[in-house]
Order: sequence, then structure tokens, then C-alpha cells
Amino acid sequence: MADISIGPNPHTQKSFYEQVGGAPVFEKLCREFYKQVEADPEFKAMYPEEDLAPAERRLRMFLEQYWGGPTSYQAERGHPRLRMRHNPFAIGPKERDTWLKFMRNAMNTLELSPMHDAMMWDYFERAAHAMQNRA
Ligand code: HEM
Repeated sequence: MADISIGPNPHTQKSFYEQVGGAPVFEKLCREFYKQVEADPEFKAMYPEEDLAPAERRLRMFLEQYWGGPTSYQAERGHPRLRMRHNPFAIGPKERDTWLKFMRNAMNTLELSPMHDAMMWDYFERAAHAMQNRA
């Protein structure tokens, strides 16, 4: 739990990544997300690789880094440039909403505090809308 009395002082505040429980939490989130991708042939068809494990790992590393955890994503993949990396995939409202639905379900398997849940969900909603590249 974040200590409400400390304030957003970068010298005293733990990262969001640490506050929510670190690696196991991000592992679970991405596992639960990709389980649903695996079970949806139409959505899965968008993924270039048959094996979703590498994609799951990239998402996990990216999210860990984004929320203040290890920076292995950057070390392995360089600058995220997520919008550019998503350009090859046709992401319209339907794909965006399916992605968000899977992520909401995955988040529901975590035991985040209401504050952490709201922060993460707000980010995913904004990011998913930003990733839309087709009408
Ligand atoms: C809006 C709907 C979205 C769809 C349909 C979608 C679909 C995809 C697909 C098909 C890939 C390729 C899989 C791979 O080989 O890595 C991918 C990669 C990735 N996506 Fe998404 N994505 C969406 C939104 C997002 C959002 C909101 C985020 C982050 C918050 C995200 C993060 C990533 C990352 C980190 C990668 C791997 C990039 C790399 O290093 O190559 N995606 N996504």
C-alpha cells in the first residue's frame, strides 16, 4: 500500500512496480492476458508468431519498465515506439476493445488496491486508444 503521508517524492517513494508487488504481479497479468488471446482464434490471427510466449514476454518487460521496474525491455528492444511497432497490425475499435476487455479481465485476477487499479486501468485505456490505427 502506498503511504498517503509521504507524497510523490522520488527519493522516498517506491515505484509503482514495487508498490503492487513486483515481478510476480506483472507475470500474472501478462499470463492471464495472453491466455485469452490464445483462446480467441480471430484475435490471435493478428499475431505474427504462432507461439505467443515471446509476445507475452515483450509485453511483460515493457510494462515492468513503464511502471518503474527493471529496464530489460529497453536493453533488448530499444526505444519502445509502440505506435510505430503496432502499425503493421490493423487495430480498429473492435480490436482495441477486445484488447481492453482481455486486459480488464487479466487485471481482475490481481489484487490491486483501488488506487493502483485505477492508475493502471487509466493508462491502459489511454494507451489502447493511442494504438488504434484504423477507423
Ligand atoms: C489496442 C489494441 C492492441 C492490439 C490489437 C495489439 C496487438 C499487438 C500485436 C499483434 C503485437 C505483436 C506481438 C509481438 O510479436 O510482440 C503487439 C506487440 C506489442 N504490444 Fe500490442 N496491441 C494493442 C495494444 C497495446 C497496448 C495498449 C500496449 C501497451 C500498453 C501494447 C504493448 C505491446 C508491446 C510492448 C508489444 C511488443 C513490441 C515489441 O517490442 O516488438 N499493445 N501488440
